[in-house]
Amino acid sequence: MASRSEPTPLAPLLAEQIRSHGPITFAEYMEACLYHPLHGYYTKPEQHPKRDYFTSVEASPLFGRLLARQFHEMWHLLGRPDSFWLVEVGAGPGHLAKQILDCAAASWPDFYEALRFIAVERSASRRALQSKALGTHIQGAKFVSQQALPDEIPCGCIFSNELIDAMPVHRVIREGNNLREIYVGLAKNGRCDELGDLSSDALEEYFSGQGISLQEEQQAEVNLAACRWIVEAGEKLKRGFVITIDYGREARELYDERHMRGTLLAYERHRATENVYRAPGEQDLTAHVNFSALDIYGQKSGLVRTGFVSQCNFLLALARHGDFADLQSDELSAAEQTQRRLLFKTLINPEGMGETFQVLIQHKGISPPSLAGLEPL
Ligand SMILES: C[S@@+](CC[C@H](N)C(=O)[O-])C[C@H]1O[C@@H](n2cnc3c(N)ncnc32)[C@H](O)[C@@H]1O
Repeated sequence: MASRSEPTPLAPLLAEQIRSHGPITFAEYMEACLYHPLHGYYTKPEQHPKRDYFTSVEASPLFGRLLARQFHEMWHLLGRPDSFWLVEVGAGPGHLAKQILDCAAASWPDFYEALRFIAVERSASRRALQSKALGTHIQGAKFVSQQALPDEIPCGCIFSNELIDAMPVHRVIREGNNLREIYVGLAKNGRCDELGDLSSDALEEYFSGQGISLQEEQQAEVNLAACRWIVEAGEKLKRGFVITIDYGREARELYDERHMRGTLLAYERHRATENVYRAPGEQDLTAHVNFSALDIYGQKSGLVRTGFVSQCNFLLALARHGDFADLQSDELSAAEQTQRRLLFKTLINPEGMGETFQVLIQHKGISPPSLAGLEPL
């Protein structure tokens, strides 16, 4: 992959780094593009009109309501502890946190009383936006925001929506019996792929440990950051759950012959492109999540797979658990009710978000629980 590129502020910094130290891994490139302190896509001050992604959180407030219903059930299953930690990682501007806390306060005051919400967000500019969204919950000492996971989460749930797909990935290709890494080098008009030896033994172990073998010439992404992250989450959580919502598949599908070029994409002005080198810092870069890896690496720190379902299954099962009351409200006009139902359809559409997004739930320190969101439809 070589490409014409835009003269973004990050481009000359990357070029200088590559000229001085040689090609960089794609993970280093993606880390800079998304999280460079000044010029990263997620770290520079939010520019709403330029946002290139649309998550379930923006699609409908029902997303937060139904998640709150799942957390409420988890709190009961854990014995209604006095302090239930809800840790949202990659919380962005805090919109989902607000949906969840508003719903808990209105629907289950005893649960709200026990809640302690921690939004973990690595971008300082996005953390700053959270204080605007969550004023009343901050004043009531229900919500805090921080850059990294707390040292210990005694009892509760760590959850994320579209966090893992925004973590930096390595790129590899199979050549004969060998795996080679695809680095980022310099071309005349920008950046280009450059093949080299693997930068870490962990890449080889990732494939052998999951029993994955790529086809000849097949390219794939490896999210070692996600593997480290789930181990850390499991270590810090003493009792409770981890919920991961993201687009992706289990390994056997993600690395099959339908994905010979991997799943890496750049998003710019709401359009997807494979040209990930075009405008560093101005494009959102993502790769599908390997949920089997989260399961397998999570086991290293005591996380046990509770279940894995599509977003459609998860949300519909939770709506049914609440007798579909979440889809209606006496405070809404008939037109608003209709709109709410239409927006809900966007979240569960089997040809869209409902099937591309998957939900993995893991548990620790509790006997295998049966959860409303995992009930078959
Ligand atoms: C695609 S956005 C999703 C935002 C939000 N969860 C939503 O659904 O609208 C990913 C967010 O995760 C944050 N992020 C990425 N890696 C992180 C990490 N290791 N810890 C905390 N936040 C992280 C990014 O800064 C960004 O705000």
